[in-house]
Amino acid sequence: QQNERDSLFIVLNYAKDYYKEILKNHDDGRSIGLSYFKERGFTDKTIDKFELGYSLDEWNAFSEIALKNAYSEDLLEKAGLLIKKDDKKYDRFRGRVIFPIHNVTGKVIAFGARTLKKDGKPKYLNSPETEVYHKSKILYGLFQAKQAIRQMDNCYLVEGYTDVISLHQSDIENVVASSGTSLTDDQIRLINRWTENITVLFDGDTAGLKAALRGVDMILEAGLNVRIVVFPAGEDPDSYSRKLGTSEFKKYLKENTRDLITFKAGLFAEEAVKDPLKKAESIKEIVGSIAKIPDPVKRAVYIKETSSLLGIDESVLLTELNKLLITGR
Ligand code: CTP
Ligand code: MN
Ligand code: MN
Ligand code: MN
Ligand code: MN
Repeated sequence: QQNERDSLFIVLNYAKDYYKEILKNHDDGRSIGLSYFKERGFTDKTIDKFELGYSLDEWNAFSEIALKNAYSEDLLEKAGLLIKKDDKKYDRFRGRVIFPIHNVTGKVIAFGARTLKKDGKPKYLNSPETEVYHKSKILYGLFQAKQAIRQMDNCYLVEGYTDVISLHQSDIENVVASSGTSLTDDQIRLINRWTENITVLFDGDTAGLKAALRGVDMILEAGLNVRIVVFPAGEDPDSYSRKLGTSEFKKYLKENTRDLITFKAGLFAEEAVKDPLKKAESIKEIVGSIAKIPDPVKRAVYIKETSSLLGIDESVLLTELNKLLITGR
């Protein structure tokens, strides 16, 4: 219903402005929220660009003021801002720094909210699915990134809110986050409106690189070109970009960007040398990825490349590829 959607956009925008105002002008907002962002190295410009905010550590600070301004309880609840439980009502976001989530046209549709407590749980509390927020169809930062993605003809994909923000501060604006979950087809199609090239930046803490690599095969399946960068253990793009500084970080990206298929082949080739029995397994794994690529010309290029990397006859790889293509992968 169009009316309800419009009302939701209005109240979400109101909430965003409220949280921003608290961050900048309220004593607690400044001493707790703003100083947290400053400690993370976020500049005022960045804070404004991403419209960051703070929610007071009180049960009804936001809803009280929203209700006074004639927003209905029902609307606040539908927007995911108010929780009603039994006879109690309270703000969803309390005592957290706020990351508004924008749709591609720049309207606020949801919030991510980080705890400031050392082991606070959950670390991030996010808006629930609502009439205007469908998590699987949204990429954090796309609104701020889309022009740069087209310009650079590449989109960096990271895990989290702070990775997106830190990359902007490092002068890299063509970046979006999947917000911690694996990428969906809708999200890939969204990126594909601006570019055919995705570079996935993997956290150093990524549990099982190989499993994570398999997770990006669906980007190949959608016909996009996939490159990857792996970070040192314990680092994510946010921490590592701050550690290295802008120019060293850019250099790191430049020198460590690998094509997904050839990276995989290299990874498996290394193992196959140590354990020849693993060679067959490696072939199946890599040809499995190549089979996902819709473009036959690209497939042929990768077969040739993989053949030389693994030291295996092209005909062997082609036989395996054709088998997979016929049986429908
Ligand atoms: N995430 C989430 N809910 C959680 C944990 C994580 O939605 N309870 C999402 C957030 O979008 C987060 C991303 O997954 O940004 C990556 O998680 P993580 O790497 O744990 O957080 P960071 O973004 O690195 O945040 P920080 O640097 O503040 O720890
Ligand atoms: Mn809907
Ligand atoms: Mn992580
Ligand atoms: Mn992280
Ligand atoms: Mn982090």
